[in-house]
Amino acid sequence: MKVTVIGAGNMGSAFVKQLTRAGHQVSVAARSGSKAAQVAAANPGARAVDVANSAVDADAVVLATGFADAAAALKSVGDLQGKVVIDITNPLTADYMGLTLGHSTSAAEEIAQAVPGAEVVKGFNTLFAQVLADGADFGNGQKASVFVASDSARAKQVATTLAESMGFTVIDAGGLKNARYLEPLAGLNIYLGYGAGLGTAIAPTWIRKA
Ligand SMILES: NC(=O)c1ccc[n+]([C@@H]2O[C@H](COP(=O)([O-])OP(=O)(O)OC[C@H]3O[C@@H](n4cnc5c(N)ncnc54)[C@H](OP(=O)(O)O)[C@@H]3O)[C@@H](O)[C@H]2O)c1
Repeated sequence: MKVTVIGAGNMGSAFVKQLTRAGHQVSVAARSGSKAAQVAAANPGARAVDVANSAVDADAVVLATGFADAAAALKSVGDLQGKVVIDITNPLTADYMGLTLGHSTSAAEEIAQAVPGAEVVKGFNTLFAQVLADGADFGNGQKASVFVASDSARAKQVATTLAESMGFTVIDAGGLKNARYLEPLAGLNIYLGYGAGLGTAIAPTWIRKA
């Protein structure tokens, strides 16, 4: 698949690493062209591109900026009509220990409103960048899970295909509105990782009796 990753930070670089390893054609764009170039250089097969028009050829756009930058970033990448946008953001407070919105909306829904033509899917937001960068296999017979929520079946399928190609187990979390649950779940993960000292090699999943 042709994937454009917007953002070359912790999550953006981890996506570029895993998506290229999974055989996808990956472009990476960031405000800082040199950062994007550095990430592309570290991952053979990836290429750094300018932000402007970076989404034009993409089958999927991974939004790997902070939530505060999300709408502006998406508006700068070209026409998103009918494009699948994978929203991985968490709308965190400055101390990372809370969310700036929730209950009656979510970052994903706010982003979908900002780019009305795009098909937005929430996903990957419950994975620490370290988990994404290290890979889905936890080495104890368990794989990390990616929760996907979207009102677009196509967007959900694209996110599922990408996640599975990187080795993750996928859990269908319903419509985009359920990002209202997935973002607090990421908040709990962050609390457990940093607040409770479990570290960042952890990830939430769901289990079911046989
Ligand atoms: N870190 C984690 O473990 C983790 C886990 C799950 C979800 N998330 C979510 O993933 C997102 C990214 O987190 P992160 O830790 O990777 O952040 P980060 O390291 O700060 O990276 C953010 C990236 O976004 C780029 N960016 C900002 N505005 C942009 C714009 N208008 N156009 C293009 N690029 C732009 C920045 O570029 P410049 O550096 O050039 O400004 C930077 O490369 C956040 O929403 C976060 O909540 C993070």
